[in-house]
Amino acid sequence: MLHIRSATADDAATIRRVVRGARLDPTQLHWQNFLIAEVDGRLAGMGQVRQHRGCQELGSMVTLRPYRGRGVAGSLIAALEARAGRPLYLFCPAHRRTFYEQFGYRVVGWRDLPPALRLKYLLPALLRLAGLRVLAMMKA
Ligand SMILES: CC(C)(COP(=O)(O)OP(=O)(O)OC[C@H]1O[C@@H](n2cnc3c(N)ncnc32)[C@H](O)[C@@H]1OP(=O)(O)O)[C@@H](O)C(=O)NCCC(=O)NCCS
Repeated sequence: MLHIRSATADDAATIRRVVRGARLDPTQLHWQNFLIAEVDGRLAGMGQVRQHRGCQELGSMVTLRPYRGRGVAGSLIAALEARAGRPLYLFCPAHRRTFYEQFGYRVVGWRDLPPALRLKYLLPALLRLAGLRVLAMMKA
């Protein structure tokens, strides 16, 4: 059975390991911002809402491989949205666009981003990190 709970200080090391292992943004991994998904008491996934100056960002969405495709991420997103303000922003590689669109997120341009997120959006492009095309998305 799927259970979603707030992270605790005991989850901090696991959060860092899982997020880095998934090669997601390794910054601002404060356990206080995370929710943890467990299936039958075992870690199945996690996600967070980063607090920026004047805005919030959904991030660090990971479902562990054996639990993918069962709605774990969908449940985490709903739970994170319930405790976040709106609008809620996120960054993702271009191939994740349809995944987030089904939850109501829409692609936005650089000019639509709050100042606190503009640099974060431009930096990977400037550094050409792994040639990855990063999209910014928003749910109003
Ligand atoms: C992306 C990720 C978090 C999805 O987790 P998940 O728990 O398998 O997702 P869910 O089962 O909640 O998916 C919800 C729905 O999205 C669908 N879906 C899953 N991946 C999808 C994709 N890439 N594109 C479109 N739809 C997708 C599922 O079929 C499901 O649809 P349904 O509810 O109609 O059955 C997971 O694949 C993952 O951890 N990937 C590696 C880390 C990563 O890339 N994180 C995202 C960074 S932006």
